[in-house]
Amino acid sequence: MEAASSTSSFIATSNRGFSLYAQDEIRRLFPGAKCTELSRDEVFLVRLPIAREAAIARMTGLQEPIFVRHLQPVDFERNNIQSGEQADDTMQDALEALPRFRHGAKLALQLRKQEGLELSAELSELRQTAADRLNARDGIVSVARDSDLILSMFWTADSLYAGVSAPEHNLSDWSGGAIRFQREENQISRAKFKLLEAEQEFELHFEAYEFALDIGAAPGGWTSLLLERGMRVTAVDPGEMHPSLLHNPQLTILRKNAGDVSFPAGAFDLLVCDMSWSPRQMAKLLMPLLDSLRTGGTAIVTLKLMHGKPFQTVKDTSREFAAQLELVRAKQLFHNRDEVTLFLLKR
Ligand SMILES: C[S@@+](CC[C@H](N)C(=O)[O-])C[C@H]1O[C@@H](n2cnc3c(N)ncnc32)[C@H](O)[C@@H]1O
Repeated sequence: MEAASSTSSFIATSNRGFSLYAQDEIRRLFPGAKCTELSRDEVFLVRLPIAREAAIARMTGLQEPIFVRHLQPVDFERNNIQSGEQADDTMQDALEALPRFRHGAKLALQLRKQEGLELSAELSELRQTAADRLNARDGIVSVARDSDLILSMFWTADSLYAGVSAPEHNLSDWSGGAIRFQREENQISRAKFKLLEAEQEFELHFEAYEFALDIGAAPGGWTSLLLERGMRVTAVDPGEMHPSLLHNPQLTILRKNAGDVSFPAGAFDLLVCDMSWSPRQMAKLLMPLLDSLRTGGTAIVTLKLMHGKPFQTVKDTSREFAAQLELVRAKQLFHNRDEVTLFLLKR
């Protein structure tokens, strides 16, 4: 039997512009890790001096990184691809090198490439070709979501990296961690995607909450989601809420500054805040309102990253909240821009 390797390689992905922070996190989790950028400030190759399963356990454990959005294992690697080589042929080498799949296994094929790279075929065609071949060879069923396994491939100008993993080992089961929600016809704001993503990422069961306070609520994307989940919502914002929300009997709108409102202690079991203020200012406005969140209640807070010290910003903010809120996780969501989202619980 082949000895298990004590090294491993992965392709990691962050939001664009944040890969250096993601690399920092990897190096902190795995001293001796080597990171090489593959696609513009977003995708990088990670070589680890630790076996694959142990690496996955550490990466998906309690200390899940803030900026590493997606991770795919490298089980097969072909370097020195020549220009003019057919992508289809290289892919076939990978398919032959990877282990066989169980008959009937639901397989998601996630193919990506370096930005700007021209391959001899479109990724969608290659995906179809791979699905057809694996269906004929192993009897896999190709699916987009809810798969048993994910086959990931990433092309650069001279290399192809491929690997097979359980979806829960990729940090996100979306290709590259790029989670997509369908835009609704009358969607109030794109900001709604942030809260939808937080709901999934932090495994929140919004249907179980009753009373929500939305600070910095206008125009109302987050509020509309909380209402859809059946909550009674109090929305605070000096700005205007979307007309479609104005007469909702489940909603109380306070067109006020967060500094000018107060509520009875324990009035809410969920507090969400998406004010685009500096972290300092946001914390200052939010602190006096935290008594209104019941013990054990949840807070979801967008934290703006201002001065290029994101780890310090998360640490400072969670310290400011520490007497009242325990930080469960901080994550840069796919739908976050220059911000991260905090998931906190009321002490
Ligand atoms: C990014 S928007 C929120 C978008 C909202 N989550 C949605 O889904 O539509 C930020 C909001 O914070 C509000 N805001 C800024 N300072 C505020 C304050 N001191 N009190 C209340 N709201 C404030 C702004 O008026 C703005 O509407």
